Amino acid sequence: MIYLDNNATTAPDPRVGEAMLPFLGHEFGNPSSPHAAGRVARGALEKARAQVAAFLGAAEDTVLFTSGGTESINTALRGALAAQPEKRHVVTSAIEHSATKNLCRQLAREGYEVTWLPVDSGGCLDFTAYVQALRPDTAIVTMVWANNETGVLLPIEEMACVADERRIVFHADAVQAAGKVEIDLGRVPVHLLSIAAHKFHGPKGVGALVVRPGLGLPPLLRGGGQEGGRRAGTENVPGIVGLGVAAALAGVALPVEMPRVTGLRDEFESGVRTCFPDARFHGNPSYRLPNTTNFALPGLDAQGLLAGLDRLGVACSIGSACTSGEVDASHVLRAMGVGDEEARSSLRFSFSRMSTAEEVPAALAALGQASARLRRDGLGH
Ligand SMILES: Cc1ncc(COP(=O)(O)O)c(C=O)c1O
Repeated sequence: MIYLDNNATTAPDPRVGEAMLPFLGHEFGNPSSPHAAGRVARGALEKARAQVAAFLGAAEDTVLFTSGGTESINTALRGALAAQPEKRHVVTSAIEHSATKNLCRQLAREGYEVTWLPVDSGGCLDFTAYVQALRPDTAIVTMVWANNETGVLLPIEEMACVADERRIVFHADAVQAAGKVEIDLGRVPVHLLSIAAHKFHGPKGVGALVVRPGLGLPPLLRGGGQEGGRRAGTENVPGIVGLGVAAALAGVALPVEMPRVTGLRDEFESGVRTCFPDARFHGNPSYRLPNTTNFALPGLDAQGLLAGLDRLGVACSIGSACTSGEVDASHVLRAMGVGDEEARSSLRFSFSRMSTAEEVPAALAALGQASARLRRDGLGH
């Protein structure tokens, strides 16, 4: 299989699985237990915390383990709102992942006022409009660092600086950014930041939320006193060990591998341009993740192409994995002014450090074959 759907999830690095294995077997202690088995588990947990902190340039005691991006986002938003009950305004963008989008829709139903900042045709936010949207009653700003569908990057550092100056809590959804662009919380004043291990060659169902001290964030899940009372429930020790190793490996690989991945993505795009001169690329080309490309092949149905590519052993995506069951065109492309017809012809290919140079011509050949078959069978639209 040629796996070019790395924004949906990534293959675990074999070293991640190896590190997790003992904790799925004989190292089964509960990190809260005051005996030897418990101490081993506690040690593994704290090692992983240090690895995640180093990966993000954060202090160790600010790292909270969660079940992944969705839980981190819910903890951040619900917590920030509960901590400031007098503030009822939330600022976000029109291109958030459904984890944030659907939570903010729910908040609006509960009576919070939500400002959805629009984007231009390249998927970029208007910075002046952002600054104007901030108000004295704004409880939290939540912004995706890198959009999962187009890879477009938002200017998180600049946005967080303005929010910080105005003493407004800023949450960055870095689920797609982590491992692909450098994140240094020593430099970027975000107050809350979410990551998920499975997007950078770690296991699924585990992630972290960085919480700057002094926010007074109440827990989303109440129960036992785990994670210093900030997140109840016995910790997912094997998953957290995997997250820590994945973070350490991603931190080392990033400066070397991401330039190489950019090269693969760019070579793939130039091949697409040659084979499909009418292809329309989505997202600002100079301000996006190194690994992502999203484009429409006018007249061809993306679902048909995806199925054809799948038969040829190439995995890609239409829209985002979480919404591909929906018949509606992607809300992200729609926010960029892409029409329904063009959105339904749009494919996303996302590379990773495990992608190889040989896969680029092979994927292009498969795309050519799948599109030719679709045209021949009259399934284009
Ligand atoms: C930008 C972004 N945020 C949040 C999430 C949700 O993460 P998880 O599926 O780990 O809960 C995803 C997953 O695709 C994502 O791409």
